[in-house]
Amino acid sequence: MPADAILKLGILVSGRGSNLESIVDSCSQKKIAAEIRVVISNNPGAPALEKAKKAGLACEVVPNKTGETREDYDKKIVAILLKHRVDLVVLAGFMKLLSPWFVQQFPERIINIHPSLLPAFPGLEAQKQALDYGVQFAGATVHLVDAGCDTGPILLQAAVPVKPDDTVASLSLRILHEEHQILPKAIDLLAKNKVEVSGRKIRFLPK
Ligand code: GRF
Repeated sequence: MPADAILKLGILVSGRGSNLESIVDSCSQKKIAAEIRVVISNNPGAPALEKAKKAGLACEVVPNKTGETREDYDKKIVAILLKHRVDLVVLAGFMKLLSPWFVQQFPERIINIHPSLLPAFPGLEAQKQALDYGVQFAGATVHLVDAGCDTGPILLQAAVPVKPDDTVASLSLRILHEEHQILPKAIDLLAKNKVEVSGRKIRFLPK
C-alpha cells in the first residue's frame, strides 16, 4: 500500500459494538489513516449493527445456518469483504472462529481484539479466567489472526491492575477502556505500513 493511502476496513461484530464505535470515532476524527467500508455481523440482533447504521455505514448480516460448514459460511463473508475491496479485516467482538481457508484469503490482514494479556486466557470469558486464576495484572491484546483461537502474532498489548474487590464487570470495564485505545492504534500502524511481520515476531518501523 502506498504510504499515504487510506486503509479500507471490514469490521466483523457479534455484540455490543463498543470497539466498533472506537474505530468509527478514530476514523471520523482522522486520528487513523483508515475508513470503514463495511460492517458484517453473524447476529441480526447485535447492538453493534444499530451503531453502524447510525454512523451511516454499510451493514450486512450473515446469520449462522444449522448444518452449514465453517468454510461455506466464511465464503459468504469473504465475498462481501471482496465486494467492498477491504484491505484489513478487524474482528471487533466477532464470536465465531474463522476457518483456515478464510485466514488464507487475507494473509496477515486480519486482526482481533482479545480481553486478556495473551497467551494467557484465550477463548471465552477471558476476564473471568484472569480473576479465577488470581493474576495481579490483566489487559487487552491486538493480534494478527491465524488458524488457531487467539494464537496469532501479538501486535499491541495494554496491561491494567486487578484490584482486590474486582468483579468480572469492573475488570472488564477497565480492560475495555484499553481495548478502545489499542485497537485503533494497531489499525493506524498497519495503515501506515509500520508493521513488519516475521513469523511470530513483530517489528515496528520508524516513521
Ligand atoms: C471485547 O471485550 C473484545 O475484546 C472481545 O469481545 C468484546 C467485544 O465488545 N473480543 P464490543 O462488542 O466491542 O463492545
